[in-house]
Amino acid sequence: MNKLNILIAASEVVPFAKSGGLADVAGALPKALSALGHDVRVVMPRYYIVDKEKYGLKPLEGSLGVPMGSMGEAWAGVYEGVLPDSDVPVYFIDHEGFFGRAGLYDEDGKGYGDNDNRFIFFSKAVMQLAKKLHFKPDVIHANDWHTASIPILLNTTYAFDPNFENTGSLLTIHNLQHQGKFYSGAMDVLGIGWEHFNADELEEYDGINLLKGGIVHADAINAVSKKYAQEIRTPEFGWGLDGLIDKNAHKLFGILNGVDYDEWSPAIDKLIPATFDIDDLSGKAICKAELQKRFHLPQRTDIPLIGLVGRLAEQKGITLLSAAIWNLMEMDVQIVLLGAGEKWAEHFFSDVASKYPEKFACYMGYKNDLAHQIEAGSDLFLMPSLFEPCGLNQIYSLRYGTLPIVRATGGLDDTIVNYNSENKSGNGFKFYDATPEALSGTVQWAVDTWYNDRDGFDQLRLNAMKERFNWEVAAKGYEDLYRHIIGGRLSNRHQ
Ligand code: ADP
Ligand code: GLC
Repeated sequence: MNKLNILIAASEVVPFAKSGGLADVAGALPKALSALGHDVRVVMPRYYIVDKEKYGLKPLEGSLGVPMGSMGEAWAGVYEGVLPDSDVPVYFIDHEGFFGRAGLYDEDGKGYGDNDNRFIFFSKAVMQLAKKLHFKPDVIHANDWHTASIPILLNTTYAFDPNFENTGSLLTIHNLQHQGKFYSGAMDVLGIGWEHFNADELEEYDGINLLKGGIVHADAINAVSKKYAQEIRTPEFGWGLDGLIDKNAHKLFGILNGVDYDEWSPAIDKLIPATFDIDDLSGKAICKAELQKRFHLPQRTDIPLIGLVGRLAEQKGITLLSAAIWNLMEMDVQIVLLGAGEKWAEHFFSDVASKYPEKFACYMGYKNDLAHQIEAGSDLFLMPSLFEPCGLNQIYSLRYGTLPIVRATGGLDDTIVNYNSENKSGNGFKFYDATPEALSGTVQWAVDTWYNDRDGFDQLRLNAMKERFNWEVAAKGYEDLYRHIIGGRLSNRHQ
């Protein structure tokens, strides 16, 4: 099989900058594709937090001219590095005005007012960089609204550019809620001509919707699980784009994310107090005791400890959890929560912790080592998401023998199989209705299983730890999809 040239553009990439799962994906998929023999390059913005010294980033010679329509020409510097433990090049688009800031997208909970310009600039810089490097991609793989301009640019500004003569585009949707909706004036910065400002392309309620334009123009779109790919065709999950997505279902795919087991494996995890694996869980008991100590909870081995890690956003079911929490506090359980986000939720859950210091503890903030310690030390892991395109934490949990309790939506539904006490099959506990009753009822079921059906619980734990969601498999899925895109473009040209 011939090797492909793949350019992956993402607004965040592990380990350089991360706010959520997109960064995990953008850091791991390129390595897996490279291992399949492809020439993969990654491009991301050089945010203030990207540590140039630590990652040994080197400036590329010269600067990159980026035409910004009515704003005129902007200039970017470019740094080059590699993804750790690989030789996959990563290019960082450097522009002090746009990216030399404390946040990625926002500060103090407020989105930057010029996010349209920032990410249109970034998307254009990706195109200009490919030209500068004389890198002719077979496919440019864009991710979410931040880089959704790329498929649009490819079909317009760069349609006749010889560098992109054979280039197809894929847009992965990691989260449909965020679409990049802006004032229509952004059309002048995008500079593709107002004829594209219509309800079938970029226009929506008199404003511009970049993700919408990306969906229309991309050769293929991928949602990050099969279930999510179905869900976004319906009004409940479509955030207004369900009709458009349904119309484009012929080019919609649902490749599930993988997990980087070099990072997330209890057998080799350097961030947890003791390692363990399926054949010897004694290390897990140490992790549990340390976690209880860290959160000043009673160090009891007999009590089930439930972990929660995630952005405190509506998506994650925080309102549901806040309504169910008093019921949960009646149970003989301990809960630890790590999260940051909505201020009301931070206050609310801190308040629960002060009311129930023996049962509930939380850390409000972003802390990677603590995320690992919670995965390792908990017995159960709660994800009551209202929607979840893929979800990575429940997959990490499986590997750490920490049984997920999830709402059956998106990737949570695709990865978690309900416990069946008859034959002790399954890998977790699922509920369907987005109600506090369904949530607490299912937590009660998991807790009862812990106390009254320990054989079942232990078997479930083994089932969970045996499962693998390797990137190798996901990368093969992407490889097939890239070839499908290329094949489609070739046959169009020959018509
Ligand atoms: P999403 O991308 O919607 O936030 P995912 O489950 O796909 O959800 O990925 C979330 C990622 O971010 C996981 O790697 C998780 O461990 C990490 N994460 C989320 N919140 C925190 C936090 N407060 N501290 C540390 N890691 C976090
Ligand atoms: C998004 C989704 C999450 C998914 C991640 C990576 O942020 O909310 O479910 O796992 O992207 O694809």
